Amino acid sequence: MLDLSPDKILVTGGAGYIGSHTVVALMEAGFDVYVVDNLSNSNIEVLNGIEQITGKRPLFENIDCTDYVAMDKFFTKHEGIKAVIHFAASKAVGESVTVPLKYYRNNVVGLVNLLELMPIHKVQGLVFSSSCTVYGQPDILPVDETAPIKKALSPYGNTKQICENIIFDTVHANNALKSIILRYFNPIGAHPSALIGELPNGVPNNLVPFVVQTAAGVYKKIRIFGDDYNTPDGTCIRDYINVMDLAEAHVSAVKRLIDKDLTMPEVFNLGTGKGLSVMELIKTFEAVTGMRVPYEIVGRREGDIEQVWANPTLAQKVLKWKAKTSVEDTLASAWRWQQHCMEAKNDK
Ligand code: UFG
Repeated sequence: MLDLSPDKILVTGGAGYIGSHTVVALMEAGFDVYVVDNLSNSNIEVLNGIEQITGKRPLFENIDCTDYVAMDKFFTKHEGIKAVIHFAASKAVGESVTVPLKYYRNNVVGLVNLLELMPIHKVQGLVFSSSCTVYGQPDILPVDETAPIKKALSPYGNTKQICENIIFDTVHANNALKSIILRYFNPIGAHPSALIGELPNGVPNNLVPFVVQTAAGVYKKIRIFGDDYNTPDGTCIRDYINVMDLAEAHVSAVKRLIDKDLTMPEVFNLGTGKGLSVMELIKTFEAVTGMRVPYEIVGRREGDIEQVWANPTLAQKVLKWKAKTSVEDTLASAWRWQQHCMEAKNDK
């Protein structure tokens, strides 16, 4: 008999920033979503936000992907999972330099466990969260997927390169496995409802959470790391992509994995195709929100890339996906999320 029940998708790290937005997009696309997360850099309350947005709570289990036995039990208990989207990983570039083994364990062991368990449990496909960090400073901009992989500047970046290679080797050796590797540029913003967003966990490493919290008065000023780069205003250039747009790309990728016979992993850049400097981003945020973001120029941050933005045409052609939200709307959503967090804190 024809099985008309929705496809089951496991999202590892589904309580995290990009993970939670992707869970929403998958649920809205009709998938049956299972979340595994060890809550090391996320909060269980995100499930309330997901439920408020979608009207449904995804099944959740507190499991660390590096725990092979626990993951094995999970797949046995929830049989019939079609594909996995693997977000669960550590992501702070600076921390990875200080505690590299945490990064090699979490990022590499977690992936190896999944790749070993998937064929045993007849899971066909894996969507993997990679990063434009694999390109280093590209020689040609915008950068496309054929650009050479440059030597990683941090253990974090190295784990992304290693994981991509592991996926290529494993899919090459196993005809039953399929994979899509997504290289994210700089995801920012929050769901338009402001019910989920990026958790302000400690001092932010990334630009937008810092900008937003400075506007909110949590910090007196933001430090701009260098204005002597070879760019029009001297500050670094990045491709900032709306997190819900990014989430939608995962829905396209999962559908492709389920529908198509992919013999080799496919790799896609997920970006807008436009570069914005640190200074331009701060000025745009101020214009959109009417808030002031005091700043000071300080020295360069070690390991920063001068400029990078995506050529996203392959994703457009193959995944039928395109970033559609303006950076203005995206920054406004980041600000609404900050206000939501402050209101929630005051209510406690
Ligand atoms: N920046 C500042 N001040 C800050 C924070 C950042 O000036 O307080 C600048 C950085 O120097 C950089 C830009 O803002 O020029 C963006 O920095 P982010 O830390 O937000 O993002 P990165 O591009 O450095 O790193 C991000 C992710 C990584 C990923 C990488 C890929 O954090 O996980 O993109 O390039 F690997």
